[in-house]
Amino acid sequence: MFRLAMALRSKGVLGLNERNANVIQRLNERRLYPLVDDKLRTKRLALAAGIAVPELYGVIGSQHDVRRLADLVGEHRDFVIKPAQGTGGDGILVVTGRSAAGQRLYQLADGELISSNGIRHHVSNIISGQYSFVGIRDRAMIEYRVETDPFFADVSFQGVPDVRVLVYRGYPVMAMVRLPTRRSRGKANLHQGAVGVGVDLATGRTLSGVLDNDIVYEHPDTGAAIGDLVMPQWDYFLALATRCHALTGLGYIGVDIVLDRFRGPLILELNARPGLNIQIANRAGLQGRMTTIDAWQGAEYSSEEKVARVREAFRTIRP
Ligand SMILES: Nc1ncnc2c1ncn2[C@@H]1O[C@H](COP(=O)(O)OP(=O)(O)O)[C@@H](O)[C@H]1O
Ligand SMILES: [Mg+2]
Repeated sequence: MFRLAMALRSKGVLGLNERNANVIQRLNERRLYPLVDDKLRTKRLALAAGIAVPELYGVIGSQHDVRRLADLVGEHRDFVIKPAQGTGGDGILVVTGRSAAGQRLYQLADGELISSNGIRHHVSNIISGQYSFVGIRDRAMIEYRVETDPFFADVSFQGVPDVRVLVYRGYPVMAMVRLPTRRSRGKANLHQGAVGVGVDLATGRTLSGVLDNDIVYEHPDTGAAIGDLVMPQWDYFLALATRCHALTGLGYIGVDIVLDRFRGPLILELNARPGLNIQIANRAGLQGRMTTIDAWQGAEYSSEEKVARVREAFRTIRP
């Protein structure tokens, strides 16, 4: 990572200290953090603005209520349990089905089976704050399990890829798609072991990828090429991300969008401290693009106009 980062420095890569001091401090007001640090609040905000999200089946907020789990899950054969204040994919259980006999066991995305006791135990750990980055009590959300769109069939392994769009001062500034791997166990987070693949903002075409510290061109489990895929509905993805800026007022956010095979693009979450690996996945730096966007401030543009501007300005030319 370090060597790659050095090689990218000439391309105006934004470093961690600069991000924290100059970008996050300046553009993300602390009082707005709770809107995105709690996935339940984000979901409500999105719904109020008419933005599609995975349907919420229920919330468990106390140890006493853990017994309500079966009621909340109801007849759903598959669902996802996650900590409302989790990050980095920690504490997320992707349940893909139930055992045929007796329905007492649940199947997870990686094929492992877990008992209903095991699931309740997990929910209880979520509530005690084990996965909450503020380290205090949390709530467990139970929601619709997104089904991977066939577009990603060859390049994801046992999980749903997500598209991370970085939005700077209201403009999409860089994007990547994150592909789950065997190691990431149904999650698309990079430090769980997913592959991050840069996406050309202008065309929605995928570039090369980053896995841990290496540049990669193939999916590590399926062997399929990860470059040169043209994202469907790319304009819509960018417009959706742009709208999320208005939703929160945060000047620097990472918007996570999944593509459900039945419901289309859905917002998973917003992030007020998005990571910087997106630059490695794109082999491009953020600084130049941010300067361009700085110069556009002051004018009032619609989301469509903003998207058109970045598509024009941030084209990636690859041999
Ligand atoms: N409802 C869901 N259906 C299927 N997969 C999901 C769902 N929610 C999360 N995931 C998987 O877990 C990853 C992380 O989820 P996310 O909500 O972004 O939480 P975190 O804050 O931990 O990143 C997603 O990128 C996706 O791969
Ligand atoms: Mg996420």
